[in-house]
Amino acid sequence: MSIARLSGNFLGFPLKLWAVVLFFFLICLSVYRVFDGLNNQILMLTDSRSKMEKAITKLQLERIDIDQGQQGSAQGDFSKEKGGDISDNTVILYNRVPKTGSTSLAGVLYDLCTINKYYVIHLNTSRNQRTLSLADQMRFITNITNWDTKKPSIYHGHLAFIDFSRFGVKQLPIYINMVREPLDRLISYYYFVRYGDDFRPHVKRRKAGDNESFDECVARDGVDCDPKNLWVQIPYFCGHHADCWEPGNEWALEEAKNNLVHHYLVVGITEELRSFLAVLEAALPRFFHGATALYNQGTKAHLRQTIKKWPPKPETVEKIKDSHIYRMESEFYEFAVDHFHYIKSQTLRKNANGEIYIKEKKFLFEKIRPR
Ligand SMILES: *[C@@H]1O[C@H](CO)[C@@H](O)[C@H](O)[C@H]1NC(C)=O
Ligand SMILES: *[C@@H]1O[C@H](CO)[C@@H](O)[C@H](O)[C@H]1NC(C)=O
Ligand SMILES: *[C@@H]1O[C@H](CO)[C@@H](O)[C@H](O)[C@H]1NC(C)=O
Repeated sequence: MSIARLSGNFLGFPLKLWAVVLFFFLICLSVYRVFDGLNNQILMLTDSRSKMEKAITKLQLERIDIDQGQQGSAQGDFSKEKGGDISDNTVILYNRVPKTGSTSLAGVLYDLCTINKYYVIHLNTSRNQRTLSLADQMRFITNITNWDTKKPSIYHGHLAFIDFSRFGVKQLPIYINMVREPLDRLISYYYFVRYGDDFRPHVKRRKAGDNESFDECVARDGVDCDPKNLWVQIPYFCGHHADCWEPGNEWALEEAKNNLVHHYLVVGITEELRSFLAVLEAALPRFFHGATALYNQGTKAHLRQTIKKWPPKPETVEKIKDSHIYRMESEFYEFAVDHFHYIKSQTLRKNANGEIYIKEKKFLFEKIRPR
């Protein structure tokens, strides 16, 4: 029936008018449902990601609880066992960058916490925000520096750098972190949100029903592979200033380098996780004793590799590497690599078989007066 043949009245308005109103209502409804559908898919993706993170942590936490039950000891408060050792008040802050192998490192932290007697605490920020309000920064800092019953401790979470010295607290935490080659990190992230990872390989993640490869995405200048997405490691190290989050900001790059050198005890690189653990074990034995041995067992390090890792085509690599943002992120990464290699060469030595050893102490105290 066409609208033109309608006649008559309903509630004092012509039926034609009612038909037109109904027509527009239906159009609005369907447009709304399409958008709602897209929105739901994005939500589902975010959701399944956080579910997976939770599953990993839960498994590990359960195992720690079981181990503790078996030992039958009330291990609760490590601070009661303090022996006046200053490292027993230490707070370590690992503000982990996503897709840099951070789940492997966090796994090591949880594996060692009962043996080495320290707490591991995950900082969960709402909606995975990487920055906190000034009030929340103050709360966070006051809490972790004063929470004596949960020391020594390691906090880990996806949070941009905060300079504790601005907040008037007496004890500063020890920052550690890990960085990765920026393009590798982006590609890993790109496929991770589409296919998940080895941890639950049969669970496919939905990214708008999409199995477009990274190459195809770059070829058509897609949003998900835009070089802007590379701007991650610089802002994490730069911190809570607005300019840090502006892709391509030169000051942010300098600030990130500065913070890396002045505020981090050591920043490892994903490509050399074993050496990183060895350096941590050398510098912070209170926490990391046994870390290298654990790594050599080989059960942890592969926890979080994305399964479909098609290497990108040369033209894709060239196009990305040509971008300004890539060059900046890469400069930061290379800076971190140089710094790490220097620390490594001073801390570790290799024998003929390629086994890593911690160098012996090179200083001693003498002529102590008055006796
Ligand atoms: C963080 O907390 C929220 C709210 O309790 C929870 O839904 C979410 O799964 C948590 N995230 C992680 C990674 O555990
Ligand atoms: C820190 O936060 C935890 C959990 O919210 C709370 O139980 C604890 O009492 C706080 N500690 C301090 C010193 O504020
Ligand atoms: C995704 O890949 C599968 C199998 O390779 C194919 O059947 C399907 O059509 C692809 N989907 C899209 C949206 O390209």
